[in-house]
Amino acid sequence: MADVPTRRPYHIIIFGATGFTGQFVVEEVARCAAEGPGLSPLKWAVAGRSRQRLEEVLKQAGAGKKGNFEVIFDINCSQNTETMRLAFDQCSTLSLSFQYRFYGEPVVKACIENGAHYIDICGEPQFLECMQLQYHTKALDRGVYVIGSCGFDSIPADLGILYTQRQFKGTLTAVESFLKITSGPEGFSGHDATWQSAVYGFADSGSLRQLRKKFGYKPLPVVGAKVQKRGFVFFSKEIEQYAIPFMGSDPSVVKRTQRFLYEEEHQSPVQYSAYVGVGGLFSIVKLFCGGVLFWFMVKFGLGRKLLTTFPSLFSFGLFSKAGPTMKQIENTCFSLTFFGEGYSDGTDPSQGRPNAKICTQVIGAEPGYVATVSAMVQAAVTLLNELHSLPRRGGVYTPGAAFYKTSLIDRPP
Ligand SMILES: NC(=O)c1ccc[n+]([C@@H]2O[C@H](COP(=O)([O-])OP(=O)(O)OC[C@H]3O[C@@H](n4cnc5c(N)ncnc54)[C@H](OP(=O)(O)O)[C@@H]3O)[C@@H](O)[C@H]2O)c1
Repeated sequence: MADVPTRRPYHIIIFGATGFTGQFVVEEVARCAAEGPGLSPLKWAVAGRSRQRLEEVLKQAGAGKKGNFEVIFDINCSQNTETMRLAFDQCSTLSLSFQYRFYGEPVVKACIENGAHYIDICGEPQFLECMQLQYHTKALDRGVYVIGSCGFDSIPADLGILYTQRQFKGTLTAVESFLKITSGPEGFSGHDATWQSAVYGFADSGSLRQLRKKFGYKPLPVVGAKVQKRGFVFFSKEIEQYAIPFMGSDPSVVKRTQRFLYEEEHQSPVQYSAYVGVGGLFSIVKLFCGGVLFWFMVKFGLGRKLLTTFPSLFSFGLFSKAGPTMKQIENTCFSLTFFGEGYSDGTDPSQGRPNAKICTQVIGAEPGYVATVSAMVQAAVTLLNELHSLPRRGGVYTPGAAFYKTSLIDRPP
């Protein structure tokens, strides 16, 4: 096994720094720069295609001209892998926010080959699981950690379940989570890149089923009473609004973590269902019309072209090329509430109904950019500071599998 060299010029390189999310990542890293490994401040760099754009990002982040940071430019991951190799050879951890489906794989590969740990905020199960299937063994051999979905997708859900498991006195067997997003009069919205991920992800959902077959997993055992999934739309008494199943990566990430902990640590797996509040009846009607149109259009090339060219029109203003305004971001927050059930200490989960319940909650600032970026940067700092608490000295992991023995679980998002 090759150890990742620790004496590299940079602790963190932010790749994709010029993107909508990248700007927030740079601001957060500049803010957390005192939290480097040991007592030393973080040495970091921004990387991307254009020096000028990277310098603008640093200026906007108020990073000044001098500090523990540098600019690494001319890195185009769809063209020249040699420039990527040279850059990644210089850092311990790479934080990434860009279009994973199209450009992510060469970056993962270059990180593994050059001994740089990799952290991303991808919310696309197909990319995340494909990287696990193809690169876990290589990453393990090289002593490199590849940890995906370290943003709002899916740190609050994944670590929230682990936190709930720890608080439960007995065997926790099932959890339902309810996401509630609260915004000001301007509403909340997301940037076009997330909309594009959704369009291409739904269009290609057949490949995800094929990919999962290749793992050859046996189904996880169901411990305790089997939990019935709720309907497609229902009124949730828990959050007092209509709710639907959550379509993001949380269920897939949580399931992978639960499998890892079952196989590696012999922990009892938790059944998990994720729901999101959508508001009142009018929202349901709007969602239904938009959903039917979306499902129809993603199936065809022309439909996808229209969806990605006019995000604001087809998402009813939920996503736009300009992204959310600062006012929208400042006035939005989220709560993710976990309702768990299980068997108290001394009771056998194979006998009878669950006899104990638990409710926990993760609350945080605007999820898409503020909480996401905070989670990602805290994950990167934890990786640098608590490397020896991560499993097996390398591999491709979910946040829960990577960080279950670290202090990340107790930090606010
Ligand atoms: N998990 C979560 O909760 C969460 C939250 C927010 C966003 N996200 C995800 O984060 C990703 C980024 O979103 P975003 O809104 O920040 O996207 P964006 O604004 O479109 O940014 C894309 C970034 O990728 C860079 N890039 C594109 N092609 C490149 C190439 N060939 N070589 C090198 N760099 C390249 C761009 O650099 P240039 O400036 O050179 O074009 C830019 O920095 C999306 O996949 C989104 O779904 C996840």
